[in-house]
Amino acid sequence: MNSLGIVPATAAHAAALGVMHRAAFGAAGWSDQVLALQLDLPGMAGLIAPAGGMVLARAAADQAEIITLAVLPEARRQGLGRALLEAAMAAMAARGAGAMFLEVEADNLAARALYAAAGFQRLGQRKAYYGPGRDALILGRPISIYAAGA
Ligand SMILES: CC(C)(COP(=O)(O)OP(=O)(O)OC[C@H]1O[C@@H](n2cnc3c(N)ncnc32)[C@H](O)[C@@H]1OP(=O)(O)O)[C@@H](O)C(=O)NCCC(=O)NCCS
Repeated sequence: MNSLGIVPATAAHAAALGVMHRAAFGAAGWSDQVLALQLDLPGMAGLIAPAGGMVLARAAADQAEIITLAVLPEARRQGLGRALLEAAMAAMAARGAGAMFLEVEADNLAARALYAAAGFQRLGQRKAYYGPGRDALILGRPISIYAAGA
């Protein structure tokens, strides 16, 4: 456990993860059942911060991906998102991944600022990935067990 109490999430946390995910994403939030199924996928790691945040990341061979990241609206701008992202990078590096990738909606300025501050670079763009006029940016950065959060 780190200083923010971030711990691995299991299927037993699905309801808590669901509350956070739906509070953060509104109508696009995932059900408890979807989150439980996600946690069961090979290579998936979930992390939960009791103060109100969660992240899912998945390793496949030497690469990893942030599947979703959410912080409760009332818990934002206190470093939880950054801490969850760093913990996910450390967990994926420990599983052998050397790079982390993710998609973020182009107009999600809060998330883009978080990822830029965490060293992610823009690698590409997917037109209308989230719907008409809603592009995704593909971001990535190297990760290592020695400097996962550096
Ligand atoms: C994106 C999100 C996870 C950030 O969580 P958070 O706990 O507020 O982030 P942090 O407090 O760790 O912020 C770390 C840094 O990111 C940047 N940042 C975060 N939110 C920001 C905002 N609203 N505006 C500008 N910069 C922001 C800042 O550089 C911040 O550092 P600072 O507070 O010292 O200035 C949160 O806003 C969220 O859950 N949003 C809805 C779901 C979502 O978009 N998830 C990501 C999908 S890809």
